[in-house]
Amino acid sequence: MSELAGKRILLVVSGGIAAYKCPDLVRRIRERGAAVRCVVTRAGAQLVSPLALAAVSGEKVHTDLFSLTDEAEIGHIRLSREADLVVVAPATADILAKMAHGLADDLATTLLLATDKRVLVAPAMNVRMWEHPATQANLVLLRQRGILQVGPTEGPMACNEFGMGRMAEPEEIVAAIAGALREGRALAGVKALVTSGPTYEAIDPVRFIGNRSSGKQGHAIARALAGLGAEVTLVSGPVALADPPGIRVVHVESALDMLAACRAALPVDVAVCAAAVADWRSETPAEQKIKKGGGRRPELALVENPDILATLAAGGASRPRLVVGFAAETSDVVENARAKRAAKGCDWIVANDVSAAAGTFGGDANTVHLVTAEGVDSWPRLGKDEVAARLVGLVAAALGGGRTR
Ligand code: C5P
Repeated sequence: MSELAGKRILLVVSGGIAAYKCPDLVRRIRERGAAVRCVVTRAGAQLVSPLALAAVSGEKVHTDLFSLTDEAEIGHIRLSREADLVVVAPATADILAKMAHGLADDLATTLLLATDKRVLVAPAMNVRMWEHPATQANLVLLRQRGILQVGPTEGPMACNEFGMGRMAEPEEIVAAIAGALREGRALAGVKALVTSGPTYEAIDPVRFIGNRSSGKQGHAIARALAGLGAEVTLVSGPVALADPPGIRVVHVESALDMLAACRAALPVDVAVCAAAVADWRSETPAEQKIKKGGGRRPELALVENPDILATLAAGGASRPRLVVGFAAETSDVVENARAKRAAKGCDWIVANDVSAAAGTFGGDANTVHLVTAEGVDSWPRLGKDEVAARLVGLVAAALGGGRTR
């Protein structure tokens, strides 16, 4: 596995019984040519000897945030800055909860909050702790932030129960590390533009025409592109989502602003238009709040907004190599998407059913059909992060292989 050669892995060992496998994990990582530096939590140090980890890693093991000599020699910021990948194995329910909620009360959690590197977790815990809604919700949060996961697996446990929660075997963790390092480069050097969320079209200073788009799918795509090393500009309409880390986010309100921000981001290699752009805007938004009363019915003269997707796809010399649009439909999803692909001149259309019954708008899952020149690929119902990962995997394959049409 050449992916590991010359790489630096920062291994965080938290307090699960599976910590006893860590010296073996360290040895296997080093056999593949990577250096390993270990950080052990207080509970972790009860389960695996820091001395053993120091011996197999050939490096000092770090355990305490408040060790003045440690902080002077190599502080918690430098620890994560000098790593190519941070691996948490075993990752207990406790450390996953702390990561999900941004707690930083020891060296391990502080560096996990401070790091801008990719993080891979190998959860390990009792089956009931694994199945607890709190743990599952924490993992959803972490995955949404681009945290990678390997395992757990099912089997007999140290606590004499049987079920899900055993840490993945060291060899599987090594394979996941290799995958993360390989993937992390698949879109290196690629520039990407993503539109996300709704647009708000002003009627007067307080009212607007808008829609129910949450931006979850577009933001997930931006995160997935950045996760593979792309340089991403995310042009986002008004959403209730945090800016994804490591991504240039341009906040806009109206379709005209969104188009201007997209133009300013060009040239890019790939554009993914996931925004639900308002088709119409008020021709002359009122400068003052429109007053009600007097039995008067205000007239709203609408003009059509520019089509950002079609503009980018037409683009001439500055056309991105791959232009991907979305089609939100409530009936005849695939047929409408095919027609939309042709009308807009884009390469791919991701068609999804947004009828109320499908729960796509605002929800966390999506059922999509990918419409390309080759045909239609219908995907199973997936989480929006999974849709993003799958789409971005195909983007990487298409750009890598030079096949964009
Ligand atoms: O025409 P319709 O709105 O159904 O097309 C959806 C696709 O076109 C989405 O990819 C959306 O982001 C894009 N679009 C756009 N600008 C518009 C309207 C739609 O980029 N004004």
